[in-house]
Amino acid sequence: MTDHSAPDTGEKRPALIPATPAGIARAAELLRAGRLVAFPTETVYGLGADATDDRAVAAIFAAKGRPQFNPLIVHVPDLVAAHSWGLFDDRAHDLATQFWPGPLTMVVPRPANSALSLLVSAGLDSIAIRVPNHPVAQAILRATGKPIAAPSANRSGAVSPTTPHHVLESLGDRVDAIVTGGKCMVGLESTVIDLTGPEAVLLRPGAVLPDEMERLIGPVRLSAGDPTAPKSPGQLESHYAPNAAVRLNASSAEEDEAFLTFGPDRFVFGGATRLNLSLEGDLNEAAANLFSHLRSLDQSGAKRIAVMPIPEVGLGMAINDRLRRAAAPRG
Ligand code: TXA
Ligand code: MG
Repeated sequence: MTDHSAPDTGEKRPALIPATPAGIARAAELLRAGRLVAFPTETVYGLGADATDDRAVAAIFAAKGRPQFNPLIVHVPDLVAAHSWGLFDDRAHDLATQFWPGPLTMVVPRPANSALSLLVSAGLDSIAIRVPNHPVAQAILRATGKPIAAPSANRSGAVSPTTPHHVLESLGDRVDAIVTGGKCMVGLESTVIDLTGPEAVLLRPGAVLPDEMERLIGPVRLSAGDPTAPKSPGQLESHYAPNAAVRLNASSAEEDEAFLTFGPDRFVFGGATRLNLSLEGDLNEAAANLFSHLRSLDQSGAKRIAVMPIPEVGLGMAINDRLRRAAAPRG
């Protein structure tokens, strides 16, 4: 298992890595080892991690300090690689042919049994994919040979970074390395279009404009009917919720309940089926396990899932946000 906690011995954090062939190789090595590496794309600097590694993806959320799990964009070098991670219909193909590589992100269905972290999609059955058009991003993706999850490389609530200096200012030693590739050309995050339903929906405006896409795929609905009010990530309505009812802050579980525990649980009783988010009480590990454990317990057939209390600090806030939504009454 990758050790995500061990600091690079004797190295100053973050390592500033030049965008040379040796630097790209070093960045790829760090990414494959589950580390966080910020790198330039044509839109903004991304905070990259291996999208197949739950712990690495959880580390992105910890570094950004977001109190919620918003789904992340997965970056790949080309359409062929994109096919491994998303289901592309004719519309997605047409848009990819025209706009990739470039500042367009497509949300498409996630294949069943995908090797991508469930945390990348924040538990959704869809995945956001983008092929960036920046030589450094392209080189890193090819050298790493893995899909790379990358939100903008800034603390939650701060403006998006378009220079390595911005990344350093915003994230400091919360990131393992920064690839210094100069200033981003576009300076605005990619356009995000949702292609999971029959109607294409603009989720975030960006450099690729709705009418450019409409010429290829027909009508694109501007979210909420108002282009100035795009659907914000926190308002995503289709978030995964278990079929089972969820009972929070449980100190023990009934015989017919599945039990999601946290921390040492030897003397905590009950639960027909039980899974532990992190025996050591590590919130990063708990975040990495959250969606897969919820799904497994749901599939156990239990009518209810009891959940032990999770501390409301750091990643615990995002975990509790998701659990509270899962526990909220549904119509
Ligand atoms: O330009 C960009 O897109 C930059 C660079 C680094 O590529 N990345 C970026 O990522 O802006 P981020 O995480 O800051 O924004 C991702 C956006 C969010 O609005 C999120 O809600 C949406 O994409 N998104 C991601 N996955 C989604 C999904 N499965 N369904 C709906 N929206 C999704
Ligand atoms: Mg952002």
